[in-house]
Amino acid sequence: MILESNNQRGYHHAREYIAYRKDLTDERERNAVILSHNYQPYEVQDIADIVGDSLELSRAAAFVENEVIVFCGVDFMAETAAILSPHKKALLPAADACCPMAAMIAPEELNYVKSRYPDAAVVCYINTTAEVKANCDICCTSSNAVNVVNSLDREQIIFVPDQNLARYVARFTDKEILPREGYCIVHDQFTPEQVRKAKQSYPEATVIVHPECRPEVIDLADHIASTSGIIRHICPSKNYEFIIGIEVGILHRIKKECPDKQCHPLSDRAVCRNMKKTDLSKVHAALLHLKPRITVPADVAIKARVAIDRMLSL
Ligand code: 13P
Ligand code: SF4
Repeated sequence: MILESNNQRGYHHAREYIAYRKDLTDERERNAVILSHNYQPYEVQDIADIVGDSLELSRAAAFVENEVIVFCGVDFMAETAAILSPHKKALLPAADACCPMAAMIAPEELNYVKSRYPDAAVVCYINTTAEVKANCDICCTSSNAVNVVNSLDREQIIFVPDQNLARYVARFTDKEILPREGYCIVHDQFTPEQVRKAKQSYPEATVIVHPECRPEVIDLADHIASTSGIIRHICPSKNYEFIIGIEVGILHRIKKECPDKQCHPLSDRAVCRNMKKTDLSKVHAALLHLKPRITVPADVAIKARVAIDRMLSL
């Protein structure tokens, strides 16, 4: 297929290419906006209107005026767009792209925990299902989790599902954080040994890791940040060399936005397979057929929206 062979050759003008394909009703005719998470395949990032982290993309989904949102990411992201913009069509080009961490907490388990800690506020990571969000007080992302927790007037906080992010937040608050046992299957794999080895190989490099990493990895890092936060740190930095403990898709934006910096991935194997399920042919098909469409039942969406809006209003 032509699109795929162009991908393989590193075709960098896929937007024009898509627009000129005769059989395609392109994104302008569809009045669509293409959002891409920082971990998407490079060619998908290159055709997107907005590339960003979970918070930036949630804000974009809430404010764009397009009728169609093509969400190049995983299921909970398109669900969030559908919750925030119920009158728009939220499309997830790779229908089976899911976040295993989001599946690590079910509404029933959350409600059981809530019954054990009736005075606690419930903060849920944006990486959760709509049903879980509907049972929370407020959402957070990796870039605002500390602020979200500190904005609450309760002393106990149930934090689901990422135990590593929960423990990271606990370093910056006096509140009691009650974590669950979820984790990101990509970032939880990094080890202190990998960090030590990388530091030996690149002693001048600044180590930056995502807050979904284990506490013992975070202890060895110089800087902790969300995916876009990493870019905001690297680009203006006086330092030239970095060790990056994060899913490798972020390296594309770093190369584009700060080409003078040298970045060494902590592990080449830090790949989120679900994020890589999107490709240009699936984006093309989504624009052409306006599916796979993600919808959320109205009763769930109304409750989940309260938790997301609280976060966005901070
Ligand atoms: P951020 O883009 O908010 O840092 O989230 C990372 C992530 O793993 C999303 O799935
Ligand atoms: Fe989920 Fe981790 Fe993949 Fe993000 S990188 S989608 S948290 S598994």
